[in-house]
Amino acid sequence: MCDFDPTRNKTATTMSCPFMQPTFDNIPNDSSDNDLTGESPIHTTTQNGNGSHDEIVQQPLNYSTYLRTNILLSALKCLSHTNRSDNSTPPVHDEHFFILIHQVFELWFKQILFEIDSVRHIFDQNDDVIPFLFNINLRLKRTATIWNMLIDQLQLLESMTPMEFLEFREFITPASGFQSLQFRIIEMKLGLTDAFRSSYKTNYFIRTMFKGEQANELESAVRELPLLRHVERWLEKIYDNTSFDFNDVFKLAIQNMIEHEKEEKIRNGTDAEAAEGNANTTNEQFKKMADPNEYRKLLDNNERRISQKAMLSALMISHYHQEPCFQQAYEMLSLLMDIDGLMASWRYKHVVLVQRQIGRKPGTGGTGGFSYLKETISDKYQVFADLFNVSSYLIPQRFLPKFVNNAQTSTTTASSLELQPYSQPPIICKKQSRMPKYQSSSNLNQYYQIGFFFLLFVTGCLFGILFSRFAR
Ligand code: HEM
Repeated sequence: MCDFDPTRNKTATTMSCPFMQPTFDNIPNDSSDNDLTGESPIHTTTQNGNGSHDEIVQQPLNYSTYLRTNILLSALKCLSHTNRSDNSTPPVHDEHFFILIHQVFELWFKQILFEIDSVRHIFDQNDDVIPFLFNINLRLKRTATIWNMLIDQLQLLESMTPMEFLEFREFITPASGFQSLQFRIIEMKLGLTDAFRSSYKTNYFIRTMFKGEQANELESAVRELPLLRHVERWLEKIYDNTSFDFNDVFKLAIQNMIEHEKEEKIRNGTDAEAAEGNANTTNEQFKKMADPNEYRKLLDNNERRISQKAMLSALMISHYHQEPCFQQAYEMLSLLMDIDGLMASWRYKHVVLVQRQIGRKPGTGGTGGFSYLKETISDKYQVFADLFNVSSYLIPQRFLPKFVNNAQTSTTTASSLELQPYSQPPIICKKQSRMPKYQSSSNLNQYYQIGFFFLLFVTGCLFGILFSRFAR
């Protein structure tokens, strides 16, 4: 939030500050902003990067001074003057567009970081985030919407042909989007770690690529708890605060479902042995979620990122997502997956753009270009991949016990809810009781045979009686 206060103009005096950002005086003043106000700006500014200004303004407040458009607009400077030593020669036409697009991206990256930081802050400061879930979701939704728009924005670059790009590409080398500090911080603050990156060594970005201030900034971002870990802790807390052990409930429900599926298969003509084999396979798959040792193996192989407890909690929320106490939580998990999915789409759209613009040429940032970027379109780069994996373990509602509480409200917490005990037969049994009693085909054959011999016997007797009468 901005705490820009125009009333301070009246009393403020110019101060110098050791952390002073560029002032209006030392920014090249080639914008027409000041001409509009007719006054020379005298600003002293400190900016903390969180969107709040600690600013002393000695200028009337208007659109340009509020938005600082002269700083913003004067940042666009083309490099592709045909004669490098003579800036008066016009730059290549499309470079203006190319720079502007990247600058706009960086502004949106700044907003994304602002939203992610605020959500992380809420988790950090509050033991119980339930009262804040609505706000968290609003911010995550905004983040997702921004990513959606950024995917569309890449399309703008399709209006530049590869030939036009070639006209100024040499001027921008070795600069590359690969060096976007904010993009790396977004990845890290969400929770992407080096273990999941394809080609780069541990701490490559901090130790090798970024230097000085930028390396420090990245390092401090890495030291902070990423959103993934906050969400993991929160999920674990929900699990602990629930009045039942979901894993026990889940294991029973799996057995219930597997038995039901096996019987269905046999009834539909599948060989009993094959049905048993299928049941065992399903059991093994579900064990990966329910059994702590099996789950550990997945964690060790980097096939999972969050703890078993957090994963079970996400599974519980997904199964009971329609319960008022879980609706907001489920919404949050969905939004995190939206963000992950949209970032993956952005990466994909960017790779296609790169392939179109430079084919298989190496990137200006020093990577293989297309071949490197292709590796980043993998689920390894999806920070919340585990939330997607929850769907592998969903089982139909009818195999799960129901919540007992009838007076649920959105403020009801899971800890105050009880599950209906299993003494209430799950629907699978009700269905069976409604069905006609199952009889095996061998039993039926027996009955037919007895009936047939009985009829034969009666007919034989009748013929015997008739024959003896005629014989007389
Ligand atoms: C003509 C358009 C573009 C081309 C040809 C292009 C090319 C490339 C290439 C080749 C790379 C791999 C690194 C390297 O340079 O060696 C890369 C990475 C990257 N580019 Fe672009 N890019 C374009 C537009 C954009 C735009 C508009 C953005 C928006 C900010 C962007 C952001 C990035 C980012 C963040 C990376 C790092 C991706 C990662 O490491 O996962 N690029 N780009």
